[in-house]
Amino acid sequence: MIDDKRGDEALPTDRQSRQTAAIVGPGSIGGTIAAWLAASDAISVTLCVRTPFDRLVVETPTTRLDVAPRQISRPDAAQPVDWVLIATKTYDVAGTAAWLAQLVGRETRVAVLQNGVEHVRRFADHVPSDRLLPVMVDIPAERDAPGRIRQRRRGTMEVPAGSAGHAFAALFERAEIDVSESSDFVTAIWQKLCVNSAGAVSVLSNEPGGVARREPAAEIMRALIRECIAVGRAEGAVLDDSLIESVVQRYRDAPADSVNSMLADRRASRPMEWDARNGVVGRLGKKHGIATPVSDTVAGLLATIDESARSKR
Ligand SMILES: NC(=O)c1ccc[n+]([C@@H]2O[C@H](COP(=O)([O-])OP(=O)(O)OC[C@H]3O[C@@H](n4cnc5c(N)ncnc54)[C@H](OP(=O)(O)O)[C@@H]3O)[C@@H](O)[C@H]2O)c1
Repeated sequence: MIDDKRGDEALPTDRQSRQTAAIVGPGSIGGTIAAWLAASDAISVTLCVRTPFDRLVVETPTTRLDVAPRQISRPDAAQPVDWVLIATKTYDVAGTAAWLAQLVGRETRVAVLQNGVEHVRRFADHVPSDRLLPVMVDIPAERDAPGRIRQRRRGTMEVPAGSAGHAFAALFERAEIDVSESSDFVTAIWQKLCVNSAGAVSVLSNEPGGVARREPAAEIMRALIRECIAVGRAEGAVLDDSLIESVVQRYRDAPADSVNSMLADRRASRPMEWDARNGVVGRLGKKHGIATPVSDTVAGLLATIDESARSKR
């Protein structure tokens, strides 16, 4: 373990006047974001890592980013910053608590860069909700090894409109990542959940996204999306029924061999984000008295696969 590893982009002398950011979980997404922020010199970046690495190298569609921001692997080496960017998987929230206890000061804002619709709820026990900024991320990125990432295409992020969202977007003005401020963020994240929840069919069949071209698989996708729409509407999202066919079509139009991240996790026997992507539909459905039998069955099967992979790890 290292406690304070200064890289060649260690804190500059004008630290007092510069904004500071800590990226908790610099994996595929956190590492990509951190590299763009460090390379654009928008803010002083510290990486809060579980597995240390030397340099952060990201192959992007336009350039190769090679940076070495300050890196710490122990929460007790952390200090309050202006921004904390959380980019762990959704099932790793508990592990971020010790970081947050050190990094969050009176003025700190915490951006949650994760999938699902529960960004704020997930961190409610650790950070006051008015400091939390949910971020919807659309940046296809894969990690080959700690600190070695491939970004597949130009990325976008979406945040709720408002002063925190605006300040977050400003951090990326010089990065090749487009951040948009949404006046209906709830709808945006539920639209994405419709896509992600349908992806479970690929995971359960152990087939790439092209499986959507087969009608029986597409029918299960439609049922999952229908339930997701019903629960999303009860949560305040504006979701049109046309989403059902457009999501299925999106899977059919994608390269037949595309592997979603949960299928990649299944194949590598890593934990899966099944609860944030499928379990949530049933959990929130129950709250509104909406039956979600297909989502419940799918979540149960994914949980079973996850559990047996865990017992073999
Ligand atoms: N990848 C994509 O294309 C993509 C696209 C859109 C949205 N997302 C969402 O973005 C989120 C992050 O996904 P990802 O693909 O970036 O995951 P990832 O590559 O697995 O990265 C997660 C990182 O969190 C680190 N971590 C876990 N617990 C930690 C702790 N206690 N302290 C410090 N670091 C910790 C992991 O460390 P180790 O190095 O030790 O594993 C890893 O570096 C997920 O919710 C995912 O669904 C991903």
